[in-house]
Formats: sequence, C-alpha cells, structure tokens
Amino acid sequence: MADYSAIIVGTGSCVPERRLTNDDLSKLVDTNDEWITQRTGIKERRIAGDGETTASMGAIACRKALEAAGMQPADVDLIICGTITPEMQFPSTACFIARELGLHTTPAFDVTAACSGFIFCLDTAAAFVESGRYRNVLVVGSETLSRVTDYTDRGSCILFGDGAGAVLLQRSTDKKRGLLYSSLHADGHGWEMLYCRPGSRHPINQDLVTQRAQFMQIKGREVYKFAVQRFHELIEDAMQKCNLKAEDIKLIIPHQVNQRIIDAAIERLKLPTEKVYVNIARYGNTSSASIPIALDEAWRAGMTKPGDVLVFVAFGAGLTWANAVVRV
Ligand code: UT7
Repeated sequence: MADYSAIIVGTGSCVPERRLTNDDLSKLVDTNDEWITQRTGIKERRIAGDGETTASMGAIACRKALEAAGMQPADVDLIICGTITPEMQFPSTACFIARELGLHTTPAFDVTAACSGFIFCLDTAAAFVESGRYRNVLVVGSETLSRVTDYTDRGSCILFGDGAGAVLLQRSTDKKRGLLYSSLHADGHGWEMLYCRPGSRHPINQDLVTQRAQFMQIKGREVYKFAVQRFHELIEDAMQKCNLKAEDIKLIIPHQVNQRIIDAAIERLKLPTEKVYVNIARYGNTSSASIPIALDEAWRAGMTKPGDVLVFVAFGAGLTWANAVVRV
C-alpha cells in the first residue's frame, strides 16, 4: 500500500493558433473533406508556427496547470514529459521546459511511449509521489507532429496535429482520491506498424531524406485493428480491476486516435457515448498530448468535479498501450 496518494490539482493546455482544415489538405494531396470526416472524424488540426516548439507549448501548458493549482514553478519537484517529437534529439524536452519555467535544479526527464506517453508519464509520476519522494510533479504531453508528417502521403498527413497538455500531480494523505489503478504495456515486435526512422539505426543522411524517411510511416489499417482491440480490453480491464459499472465513471478520456475507432470500441462495450470525451474533430491526433488536452478542456468546462472517476486509455507506437483510473 502506497504511503500517499497522487492527486491531479491543476490542468493546462496549449494549442497553436494556426489551423489546417480538410479543405487545406485537399490542396496538398488527393483527398477531400468528406473522406477525412467519414473515415476519421477530423475536421481540422492545429499546426505549430515559426518559433512554436514542443518545449514552448509544453511550458505554456505547465504554467496554466500551475496557475490552476495556485502554485509557482518554484513549487515543482519534478517534471516528466511524454513526447515523440522532442525539442532536439538531446537534451530532453523536459529540460527545455524546466528552463522556460525558470528552474535551475529541478529534475526533468522525457518518457517515450508515443500515443500512450501521457499515461506512462502519469504512472511514473504517481509512483514518485505515492512513495513520498516528491510532493509536486508536472506531467506533460507535448508534440509537434507536423514536423515529422509527410504532407505528400494522404494516408497519414490527414491525421496529425500539434499541441500540449499538462497536469500537476500533488501528494495527499486522502487515499480515496488519486490514481486508483493503472496498467502499462509494450511489445516492440510490433514496431513496424508506426515509426519514424532517424536514429542510431538510420542516421540522417541524404539517402534517408531522398526516401522521405525523416517522416513518420504508418500502416493505418493495422493500427486501426490493434487500437479497436486494445481500447476494448483496456476499458474492460479498468472497470473489472476497480469494480466499476458504467454509471460509476464520469468520463472516459481516450487517446484521440480516430472517431471510428472510438465509436467501434464504445459500441462493443455498450457504453453511453456521452461518457466519452472526444475532441478529435478540432485537433486531430496529437499523440501524447491528446489525453491531457482533452482532460484540460473537460476540467475547465466543469465536466469533472472532486470525487469523479475518470478513465484514460491509450495505444500507439512501440507498440504501447495503457490505462489509468483516476478519482479527481
Ligand atoms: O495514434 C496512432 C496513430 N494513428 C494511426 O495509425 C491511424 C489508425 N488508422 C486509421 O485511423 C485509419 O486506418 C485511416 C484513417 C488511416 C485510414 O482509414 P481506413 O478506413 O483504414 O482506409 P484504408 O487505409 O483501408 O484505405 C481505403 C481507401 C484506399 O483506397 P483503395 O485502395 O480502396 O482504392 C486508400 O488509398 O481510401 C484511400 N485513402 C484515401 N482516400 C482519400 C487513403 N487515405 C485517403 C485520403 N483521402 N486521405
């Protein structure tokens, strides 16, 4: 039994101003608004402008989460950032975020778990908080996926957007609240479903760029099947382990992968659609940022109150998949 609980006391998010609509995309590749809307539910996504980066958006989301919690950057004991589009290959994006928050000694590191990144970070942060090691931990998911998206590939460029979301986790002695349950999973055997090649195996060189291999590659159909199956299993697991019925859950906040994937899973589980928070139409898939952006929207709209149970589920490159049950 953990010494303490880890409670979400503030949320924040940041998305770029610039919008890329389906009609804009139809001028770049052979696609149209009707196809994209029917197959994905996405109408537009936000695209980082010059000077907007994974760390700059992450830092803004963190500041907003701190403000919401009535805390200052100096109160933060640890920063964990989930991202697959880091500020640079190194140092970590979390170090850049800490720098933007004016911090000089606070530990900060990144976690790479793609679209499951936010839940992996939340679970890691909660372990630090619950053990008593740290009191206030910022958990951030931030992505500039537009910078690794191939805007000549209609199968992938329609899906992704940029943005950041953050929560402040705080130590508490109230054991009824906090992270009630979580499970993390990974299977590297499925790496070829979704990847972005530059790295030690494929250092950046002219050949790589000629092949457009600096951009992410996805096998959309395979990811689709994987996501529907995992979504279903993760929700069932969360409900079973926490002994929850549908009426006990205030909101399910899934990784915003595709409206059809979300609808298919919810239909199979026979869950009421109003329990599922979906904002994919406005932002597309923002990978590790999608759950904390959605959570921040729901939180600020007054859709979650102290005592409410929230369920997060995510799946993505790795392969990785994860769930978390939180009592606000
Ligand atoms: O968070 C993890 C990352 N997310 C993902 O990896 C996405 C998961 N997958 C998906 O969301 C869906 O599989 C997609 C939205 C990517 C594709 O939808 P789909 O229903 O699986 O379509 P499909 O790939 O089976 O393609 C159906 C047809 C194909 O044409 P043919 O072969 O039937 O003639 C595609 O070439 O649709 C065509 N197509 C398009 N048509 C218009 C593919 N992309 C487009 C497009 N516009 N953008």
